Amino acid sequence: MAACRSSVMTAHVYISTSIFLLCLSAADGRLNTGHAGVLLVERRGSYPLIDLRILKSKFKSLNVEVEAGRRKVKRQLSFQRYCHASRLLRGSVPHTPGSLHLLDDDYLGQAAHMLSKVGTWNFDIFLFDRLTNGHSLVTLMCHLFNVYGLVHHFQLDMVKLHRFLGMVQEDYHSQNPYHNAVHAADVTQAMYCYLKEPKLAEQLSPLDVFLGLMAAAAHDVDHPGVNQPFLIKTRHHLASLYQNTSVLESHHWRSTVGMLRESRLLSHLPADVSQDMEQRLGSLILATDISRQNEFLSTFREHLDNQDLDLQLASHRHFILQIALKCADVCNPCRVWEMSRQWSERVCEEFYRQGDLERKFDMEISPLCNQQADSVPAIQTGFISYIVEPLFEEWHRFTEPSPLSRTMMGHLHKNKARWSRLRHAHTPSDTQTHSQAEEPEPEGGGGEGEGEDIP
Ligand SMILES: *[C@@H]1O[C@H](CO)[C@@H](O)[C@H](O)[C@H]1NC(C)=O
Ligand SMILES: [Zn+2]
Repeated sequence: MAACRSSVMTAHVYISTSIFLLCLSAADGRLNTGHAGVLLVERRGSYPLIDLRILKSKFKSLNVEVEAGRRKVKRQLSFQRYCHASRLLRGSVPHTPGSLHLLDDDYLGQAAHMLSKVGTWNFDIFLFDRLTNGHSLVTLMCHLFNVYGLVHHFQLDMVKLHRFLGMVQEDYHSQNPYHNAVHAADVTQAMYCYLKEPKLAEQLSPLDVFLGLMAAAAHDVDHPGVNQPFLIKTRHHLASLYQNTSVLESHHWRSTVGMLRESRLLSHLPADVSQDMEQRLGSLILATDISRQNEFLSTFREHLDNQDLDLQLASHRHFILQIALKCADVCNPCRVWEMSRQWSERVCEEFYRQGDLERKFDMEISPLCNQQADSVPAIQTGFISYIVEPLFEEWHRFTEPSPLSRTMMGHLHKNKARWSRLRHAHTPSDTQTHSQAEEPEPEGGGGEGEGEDIP
């Protein structure tokens, strides 16, 4: 335990440094808002640029102590220990490490209680994120890795795992109303529910589960809060790097690979194994490109029509994981209304911000991004009809007879009807809600606020 504690403390020093640097870059970004260039070029993924020199030297001292404590640290993941470590690791109270345990045992107790129901569809990820002080993604992933025994199975080093997950969570932009770490945690929680589907659960290998959860957690990492057409028309470097094709998804994947390598999470595995993992992760993350939905949907339909899916085959299981991740990514309208509505408002707010940028720089305003013309109910009914419903109808067919799918279809139809009523009850200009998202100044914590603008 002593060894464990000292490595955590060392980790604390290292993470505090990186938090400090991230705060600097966040503050910098804020000073410069107004310049589209700066806003969009500001990427959390740029951390190697800013702090690699400094981190390098910290890494070394960390590694020395970690080597000694590694074996003891490995199996000691309990929720409580994890959360305390994570608070240290994430530096949310970097200046008063002594007061840690006083601060929020109560919240942690409630969060731990929530985790005992993590597989239920009405899991409130917003509440969970508040109870974990904005660390829902790391906390959830560590818990699920424990549930499945993945740390043991892949002989993962807990310190490296924390470091990797911390980097992933950190690289989501908390100032994005939608594409932030809470969305990633939400998708991960949904993915977990889908992995538990009786049709699937028995057949999945530990590797399938590992990749499914990792892909869910990282699938939008470092999302800039604008879409691909915007990146292309503003000649963003990512658009030319990825040749205008699956630009964001490619970036999410390659960023994930970068963090995997930097954290050395998989460095104990044979090179061909870890390379294969990286490729499969890419194939999963790239499947979330909505513009490829028809391709996936028609293949899925064909399999279901022919009843030829054989989940003994790794390739078929991989295909189903792709579909499951796609479902998890767009499952917001299948949640209970209260949760569903919050996600809808957030995603529309993100669109509107892009529209505001476009207006400001005299560009053509993208579809769905015009706050004056595109109301939340109109955007949502379209999204449900063209994207969500067709996908979940097939998923329902695949998982049948699944109580979860029946529940989701029930919410989906009710929510669609509700948006439809709202759409016809209001003219676009009174459609409420999004304007409140003038982001409040993040309190304390130096720009790490999660932007909980919608209660
Ligand atoms: C990407 O799109 C831009 C703008 O339409 C175009 O100028 C550029 O040639 C395209 N690049 C590739 C690789 O297709
Ligand atoms: Zn997503």
